Amino acid sequence: MSALLRATSAVLFALAVGTGFAHAADKKITLGFSQIGAESEWRTANTQSIKDAAAAAGINLKFSDAQQKQENQIKAIRSFIAQKVDVIAFSPVVETGWEPVLREAKAAKIPVILSDRAVDVKDETLWVSFMGSDFVEEGRRAAKWLMDYGPVKALAAKGDVNIVELQGTVGSAPAIDRKKGFEDTIKGNPAFKVIRSQTGDFTRAKGKEVMEAFLKAEGKRINVLYAHNDDMAIGAIQAIEEAGLKPGKDIVIVSIDAVKGAFEAMMAGKLNATIECSPLLGPQLMSAVKDLVAGKTLPKRIVTQEGVFPAEVAAAEYPKRKY
Ligand code: AHR
Repeated sequence: MSALLRATSAVLFALAVGTGFAHAADKKITLGFSQIGAESEWRTANTQSIKDAAAAAGINLKFSDAQQKQENQIKAIRSFIAQKVDVIAFSPVVETGWEPVLREAKAAKIPVILSDRAVDVKDETLWVSFMGSDFVEEGRRAAKWLMDYGPVKALAAKGDVNIVELQGTVGSAPAIDRKKGFEDTIKGNPAFKVIRSQTGDFTRAKGKEVMEAFLKAEGKRINVLYAHNDDMAIGAIQAIEEAGLKPGKDIVIVSIDAVKGAFEAMMAGKLNATIECSPLLGPQLMSAVKDLVAGKTLPKRIVTQEGVFPAEVAAAEYPKRKY
């Protein structure tokens, strides 16, 4: 062992190969995490998972809630850089506009992990790993389930299937990708038509408001609602009932997340299917943070494994749901 290496281990330093940053092995790891907000049941579960996992892993977590504003996330990341945290992780509210702050993190030699949502930047060395769901696949799964669902198949055989779409936050990865996955899949069948599509910003209140507008404009023409998350579907269910229609029967509803609220709606016969998107990213994130600090190279992409839950399995699955 060289004198230099001996000296290095004597002061208990772990060198992070490939990331160019160093961390004293006897020091508690500090992670700065910028969360989007608390817009949905999913997001609340995601925050809890991150907080619980950090506590269990003995990681010092600096947590910041951006209240769905990109400028707040940028401020939080800058403050993490100023505080010299060991690792920064964040769920980007939108895809674009991150280059300057990510360059600042790189210059400060602080590695950045993307959690849940991706960014759209030319230089992919600005972040080390992206862990989360395949949102395009979720959109495809929603469309496939719909095209296979008996009552919708029967409608398609007779004429048009008029779909209204509640999109997530404008410019966010899940809104862009879930729209694309769904559209690409229904394209092959001309009976399936998206007649209205608007953002409900991933919230129940907006989901309700936009569904009211859809119903006003289209009335009983609407056969299907595709919502980019369960919260918007739950808000829309209220609007549908207030309009004197039966959600799940007069309007078939498929949404994404598979939160407990969706299972409750399915058991009540008001939602027809939910496509899983797991928020339980905390343990995976903490082990990635530890690996990074120990000098390991992380996979660039870590995809979450997820399923599809139709209403028929809701009662059996509900007791097993963790969020
Ligand atoms: O990024 C994941 C999405 O964000 C979830 O589907 C939605 O509920 C949340 O707000």
